[in-house]
Amino acid sequence: MTDLLTPRAIGQSLVRRDGVDKVRGTATYAFETDVEHPAYCHPVQATIALGRVTAMDTAAAEALDGVLAVLTPFNAERLASTEDAEYAVLQSTEVAFRGQLIGLVVAETSELAREVADGITVTYAEQPHDSELRTDHPGLYAPEQVNAGHPTDTAEGDVDAAMAAAEVTVDHTYETQMLHNNPIEPHATTALWEDGSLTLWDSTQGVHPDRAAVCEVFGLDEERVRVVCPYVGGGFGSKGNPHANVMLVTMAARALPGRPVKLALTRQQMFFLTGYRTPTIQRMQLGADRRGRLSAIAIDVVEQTSKIKEFAEQTGVPARMMYASPNRRTTHRLAPLDVPIPSWMRAPGECPGMFGPEVAMDELAEALGMDPVQLRIANEPDVDPDTGKPWSSRHLVECLREGAQRFGWDSRGPGRRREGDWLVGHGMASSVYPTMRQATSTASIRFSGGRYVAEIGAADLGTGAWTVLPQIAADALGVDVADVDVAIGDTRYPTASVAGGSSGTNTWGSAIVQAAREFRGKYGTDPQDGDEASGDVDQAAMDDAHAAYAFGAQFAEARVNADTGEIRVPRLIGVFAAGRIINPRTARSQLIGGMTMGLSMALHEDSVFDTRIGQVANHDLADYHITVNADVGEIEAHWLDEHDPYVNVMGAKGIGEIGITGTAAAVVNAVHHATGVRVRSLPVTLDKVLAGLD
Ligand code: MOS
Repeated sequence: MTDLLTPRAIGQSLVRRDGVDKVRGTATYAFETDVEHPAYCHPVQATIALGRVTAMDTAAAEALDGVLAVLTPFNAERLASTEDAEYAVLQSTEVAFRGQLIGLVVAETSELAREVADGITVTYAEQPHDSELRTDHPGLYAPEQVNAGHPTDTAEGDVDAAMAAAEVTVDHTYETQMLHNNPIEPHATTALWEDGSLTLWDSTQGVHPDRAAVCEVFGLDEERVRVVCPYVGGGFGSKGNPHANVMLVTMAARALPGRPVKLALTRQQMFFLTGYRTPTIQRMQLGADRRGRLSAIAIDVVEQTSKIKEFAEQTGVPARMMYASPNRRTTHRLAPLDVPIPSWMRAPGECPGMFGPEVAMDELAEALGMDPVQLRIANEPDVDPDTGKPWSSRHLVECLREGAQRFGWDSRGPGRRREGDWLVGHGMASSVYPTMRQATSTASIRFSGGRYVAEIGAADLGTGAWTVLPQIAADALGVDVADVDVAIGDTRYPTASVAGGSSGTNTWGSAIVQAAREFRGKYGTDPQDGDEASGDVDQAAMDDAHAAYAFGAQFAEARVNADTGEIRVPRLIGVFAAGRIINPRTARSQLIGGMTMGLSMALHEDSVFDTRIGQVANHDLADYHITVNADVGEIEAHWLDEHDPYVNVMGAKGIGEIGITGTAAAVVNAVHHATGVRVRSLPVTLDKVLAGLD
């Protein structure tokens, strides 16, 4: 595979093409789609955590002026497929978790729909539920595989024997909390069923995967369904697969042919219906000799899934490849609970999975009296320990060194430095994220009115696809980027993969390059109006011989108030090696966005699950605190000029998720350095720190 030989647009900090429309408010989001005379939907949610709906009194609601439809399990259409229990909305009276969708009101106004939905009397046969994650849960089981298709367990050598023989060991249990994606744009859809065809203007990370799911559930032909989504106000994984709300609004549209319907979930409803990061309990074991060479790495993970649909976070996966050790073990066990369905949240697997291991490395460094940066460098593997494959490129050590230098790590000292009322400490951790490319995507290039248009059903979550895809197309065509347009976010354009796994730019860009090559091959450099060619992701060029990952190192300064335990992080520096950076401006946003979300995980975000009632108690933005500007001090993202010929034709590794991996560990390690208090459960709140301060 070759590089794009003469990058000109690639590498430029071009401004967002959609920026002005967004600032002016003229970029149309799903719910705002301008349709004739829309009706509005409001869901009815179960108020028990387990049991059955025995009756719903809807007569009064249905008789009200302005109410157009009341859908319940007793009258809703039967779906073609109920295989996916999340999507089988209103197909049975069973309730599997609190907040599950059990009805929908469609009315002339959103206010009326909400009022009526909230007033419907529901009778239940309630059963005792079980929503508590415990390591001794009697139902713990090993899933067949974990998210992204990884094996559930791996083992090499004998960890127990190596631990017994090791000169220095660490054996602790770490916990990451339940977290909810909170994109500013809620999950929202405008839907129209007309003449046997469906149009969905849906906020989604992928119009084609969205359409495929809806077609499967309703038994529709893909030709009769169009999904449109030019702009997304954030997703983070929660819009990677459609959730039940999309099926419900489709059902409403089908119940009211010719009438557009709109459904936007409320912020509170999102805490039940759009997935979440499962809490994890990670037992970590590390064994090493006195020089810090690891002889054993083990992580045994317990986490939860809903009973009706399995999601297995791949928490143990990064420990498989991060550091060298002859003896290694990773396991995942799931507790099936009566809880909402967990799903993707920025760097599923790697994000929680770089917490326990990276704090454990800090604990090992402390036990050894060794610098945490040096400990990591000492355990750098020559090849991928998990697969034995050579790295496509691995510049973790360079990231560690450059990060240490930029941060001023060498002045760190032994810790517990006091400045007035504040205890000051420095901590660090490594970052990692696999370089992925989806197997299928197609792009077409058309020449029209003197301009080139690249069409592909890609999604821009606010991340920059509108801006970076023209940069790739321009270089692949050898033309000025100002002469290239893109058209994305519509199933009318060629099939594109989901914007997930940090794979969007890699996958769609590869298809665009192939389309450009086809175009040039067919028409040369002097095309006629209307000339068009398409290209697929080049399967033959998919490199399977190398282990491909982006790496990084993050350094944090923590200040802890000696009297109150208040924690501040005034400084966070990340250095990443993520292949070629297509657009430094949008890339920096992704990296500092990930780091900020990691800081948020470290200190603030926490879905407090009340196991007595089976729901998140703080299910709104008043009580679920997300790190905001006032919580962030100096935050810097840097990157190495990394060239990787194996990952894809652009040499890009993907940057959407690596920024959040390792951040929370870096912060926890800094808090320990400041205070001597080792917090092993997230978030780090002042009560946990105060308990250990003298
Ligand atoms: Mo991201 S969790 O891969 O959408």
